Parts: sequence; C-alpha cells; structure tokens
Amino acid sequence: NKVVLAYSGGLDTSVIVPWLRENYGCEGISELEGLEAKAKASGACQLVVKDLTEEFVKDYVYPCLRAGAVYERKYLLGTSMARPVIAKAMVDVAKDVGADAVAHGCTGKGNDQACFKIASSTMWEWDITGREDAIEYAKKHNVPVPVTKKSIYSRDRNLWHLSHEGDILEDPANEPNKDMYMMSVDPEDAPDKPEYLEIGIVSGIPVSINGKELSPASLLSELNDIGGRHGIGRIDMVENRLVGMKSRGVYETPGGTILAAACRELESLTLDREAIQFKDTMALKYAELVYAGRWFDPLRESMDAFMENITKTTTGSVRLKLYKGSVIVASRKSPYSLYREDISSFESGQIYDQADAAGFIKLYGLPMRVRAMLEKDLGKK
Ligand code: ARG
Ligand code: SIN
Repeated sequence: NKVVLAYSGGLDTSVIVPWLRENYGCEGISELEGLEAKAKASGACQLVVKDLTEEFVKDYVYPCLRAGAVYERKYLLGTSMARPVIAKAMVDVAKDVGADAVAHGCTGKGNDQACFKIASSTMWEWDITGREDAIEYAKKHNVPVPVTKKSIYSRDRNLWHLSHEGDILEDPANEPNKDMYMMSVDPEDAPDKPEYLEIGIVSGIPVSINGKELSPASLLSELNDIGGRHGIGRIDMVENRLVGMKSRGVYETPGGTILAAACRELESLTLDREAIQFKDTMALKYAELVYAGRWFDPLRESMDAFMENITKTTTGSVRLKLYKGSVIVASRKSPYSLYREDISSFESGQIYDQADAAGFIKLYGLPMRVRAMLEKDLGKK
C-alpha cells in the first residue's frame, strides 16, 4: 500500500508513519513542510515538498478576506482555509505516485479531520487517542517528535496564522503564558512609536503596501512582520467546533488582522447600506462553511461569485496606524467612493434639499404612527 500523508513533522504525523506501516503495511509518502531526514527517520519512503504559499494566499485566503469571513465573531479561519489547499495537493500527489489513499494527523476530535476528509477521500481509524499516547508510541518506535510531555500545545501554523490549543489553554479560565506566542510580541513590549501603513486594494483584494506592489504571499508575510512587532492580531476565544464540543483556541493573525481592517474600512466608502448588510449576513454563512470543511461545496463557490461581484468597486487605499496591539484607521480613499462631500457636508450643499427630508421622515415613521394610534384606541376600550 502507498499512502500520501500530510506531514508537518509534528507529533501526530510523525507517529502516523510507523503506525501506518505497523497496522496496514503501508509505505508512506509524506508531503509538505517537513524535513526530509525527519520524515525518513519516521519511516516514510519519500518526501514530496510543495510550496503552496502563493496558491494558498491567492485562492483561499484572499477570497475569505474579500468575503469578510469571520467565524463566531473572532476566528479568521487560518486553519480551516489551509486544509482544502493541502487536501487538493495531496490528491494530486496521490494520483501522480499511484497511491491508494491519503492520510492526515488530525486528532479526530475537531474540525481538521472534516476539512481533510470532506476535501479528499479515505481516512483510517486509529487507536492513539491522546497526545500522551502518541508520545509513548513515538518513544517505542524511535520516532523523533518535537514535543515533550511538558510543552504539549497543539499548534498549527501557516502564512495566515498560528493556532495554539491544548495544555493550560484547555481551561478557559487560564490566561495564556506570555512565552507561548510566536508570531507577535506582547502589545506591552511593542514600540512606543506608532507606525503608519497604507494598504492598496483592488476589487476587494490587497495588492500593495505603501505603494509597493507585492505578490499575495510576500504581501502577507511582510504584514506579518510589521503587525507582529506591534503586537497585532492576538485572538483568544472559546469556539463551537463542528462536532459539537466547545474548544478554547488562541490565534495569532497579525497580517490578516491588518488586512481585514483595511478591507472592511474601504467597503464603508464603496458599498451602500443594503449591500453591506446583505454581504455581512452572507459572510456569516460563508465562514461557517469554510470552518466546517465545505470549501469545495457549490454553495460556498456560488457565494464567492456574489462576493466577487459585489466587491468589484472595492478599490482604493486605507491608511492605518499600528500601535501596541491595535489597528487604528487613519484614512480611506477610493475612486469608486459613494461618499460625496457636496452632499454630506455640514456646510450647505446643492444636491440635498433639507425640505425633502420632512416628507420622507413622515412616511418613514408611518408604521410607528399607526401603531401609536392603535394603542391609543385600545386604551380607550
Ligand atoms: N480550532 C481551529 C479550527 O478548527 C484551529 C485548529 C487547529 N488545528 C490543529 N490541528 N491544531 O480551525
Ligand atoms: C485536530 O483535530 O488535529 C485538532 C482539532 C481541530 O481540528 O480543531
């Protein structure tokens, strides 16, 4: 049997290689982000490394950003949107090498497994149920693993974010340790001087920083550096997982937090009331599908077509001030701005006639006047 495994070199995936061999007589072909030597030491026969970063940011991160997809008010979906790109690449590799199956290292208690499984195909049931179990198994099979029983955070990192779960975080009452974070400094230790930054956006997609055009992955990676040194983008939350349980996670999304603020802000100029409200409503569903691993669902794809169309004019730039963990909007500009100073100004204007407002307000308030009349009548009876 030949198996393609999404190999990170982390605890679970390191242990899976010998486990697949022992239980299914599989030779492993692992891919992604791993160190060849380490994969081989675990017993994999071949390591395929694919750089998917540009594809990831362009085809997965940016559509979510354009949609304004946020799960349960906070989560910027860093892990959820990485799974489909990995699953797709694994299936491609599996076809190339004639593998029988693909495998992953998810615990089986969360969303990851759904993301992988729905996006690809077979999953083995395995009997290693906890991280301590996995460490024991690794010891027995001489597999080098990156964690000790002491530091047992489960982390998932990509260009968009870094997630921390497990260990002391499993009690939602515990504040994370200062030294847990890896992409951002503590806001208290961030520079005392704010930093200004201009994000250029074309049709809902970021294209430049301070006028410099950058590819999707390089733009994001530069923003991660900038945001990280100002302590931007730390999210600590308790979320509802797809499988029903609650889970506590801490995420670092420095560049993503900056981009989300910029895109949202630009829409305040380019979208009207109904469009913003409807888009926000749809963004909730969009985020839910992504979180649940339904990236390739025609429903998400159709919603994406809506998002693409509605953000056609979301073009312009947003200037932001970064200061000790916060992203403060300083200015926004767009050639498609619906804001007109000649209408909105507190100084007098030509187009808007205050006299028109009187009749409008009367009609707009009509339902409330009717209700008041009814209540008065009822009161008499
Ligand atoms: N809870 C987040 C999600 O479901 C992050 C999961 C992180 N994955 C991991 N294997 N540690 O998307
Ligand atoms: C995992 O299954 O590896 C972690 C939990 C999750 O999917 O959120």
